[in-house]
Amino acid sequence: MEPMDTPSNDPTDERAARQEWRHAHDRTSDLQAAGNPTDPTMVPPVATADAEPAGTQAAPPAASTATPAAAQPTERIAKSMTEHPAHVPNPSDLVLAIRGLRVAFSGNEILHGVDIDAPRGAVVALVGPSGCGKTTLLRSINRLTELAPTASINGEIQLDGQNVYDRGTDLNLLRRRIGMVFQQPNPFPMTIFDNVAFAMREQAKTRPSRSSLMPAVQDVLQRAGLWDEVKDNLDRNALSLSGGQQQRLCIARTLAANPEVILMDEPCSALDPRSTARIEELIIQLAGSLTVVIVTHNLAQAKRIGDYAAYLLNGDVIEQGLARKVFEDPDQQSTRDFVSGMFG
Ligand SMILES: Nc1ncnc2c1ncn2[C@@H]1O[C@H](COP(=O)(O)OP(=O)(O)OP(=O)(O)O)[C@@H](O)[C@H]1O
Ligand SMILES: [Mg+2]
Repeated sequence: MEPMDTPSNDPTDERAARQEWRHAHDRTSDLQAAGNPTDPTMVPPVATADAEPAGTQAAPPAASTATPAAAQPTERIAKSMTEHPAHVPNPSDLVLAIRGLRVAFSGNEILHGVDIDAPRGAVVALVGPSGCGKTTLLRSINRLTELAPTASINGEIQLDGQNVYDRGTDLNLLRRRIGMVFQQPNPFPMTIFDNVAFAMREQAKTRPSRSSLMPAVQDVLQRAGLWDEVKDNLDRNALSLSGGQQQRLCIARTLAANPEVILMDEPCSALDPRSTARIEELIIQLAGSLTVVIVTHNLAQAKRIGDYAAYLLNGDVIEQGLARKVFEDPDQQSTRDFVSGMFG
């Protein structure tokens, strides 16, 4: 291995630099998604409902005519609907229907017309090898992808039958309805109480008192499985919590906005097995009352918690359907190779 200060053409250096750049970018958009107005790296909040970020080619206006009827399950997932997973009361009721999603950066297409169904109440696991576009897909669902000035996005993502790329979409509201939890826990540098109360205060017309917020804060911390560990000192700085606790706090902060969908991008990859197990329990408890779309590299985790699964490769969905089917009896050879650990 070369010393740190020696110039190198090692491709791993280039990869590390690229990753660093992406993390810097991610940090900005993570905060944008979480809605932190105090962070100096934050992209300014969306000022008007119909503002379109530079470089974004939203889906054509015709897309706004999308009706709930268009959100029919894709053929492949419909075939696997004979068994109803535990969390899903009605598998043909799609909270999210992604249709023909194409994303390119600087003209380089990363997602090539992706169709994915997310039945309401399900845990939908997105799996695939590194670089296949999972994060790009997830970030396109709550319109974070377009924060990259080189991004162009086409296709439809219907949330309850309405295309999120329609002109006039209120991005702040969209990101409350579709919350996001990231790989690295990103609590705000403020107290535990204030982290959870943040969205509640933002949504209130006049600033609510602490005592009036307390029942809701307690409820959300209980749902996130953190209450017992923090109830004695809610004024502790959130950054002094352990990584696993911070991640549950981020889930609590997301829940406080009362989302319909939570997107999770490898939420356990920075956590130890015990914290991972707690987050998995939490996801299983939350599912049903809301929908979780989770990207994970941990196939065992995807099998444990997924009701539905989609396998992506090089920007295409190769296979999707009931998680059990995708992981245990896939139709495609490529899926079989991936789930058996032959690559990825
Ligand atoms: N903002 C961006 N600008 C340019 N290229 C990007 C940007 N974001 C992602 N990409 C490219 O898109 C491709 C897919 O990246 P993405 O992060 O979506 O993959 P992934 O499946 O999440 O990978 P991993 O499993 O490693 O997290 C990569 O080639 C990446 O370099
Ligand atoms: Mg990723």
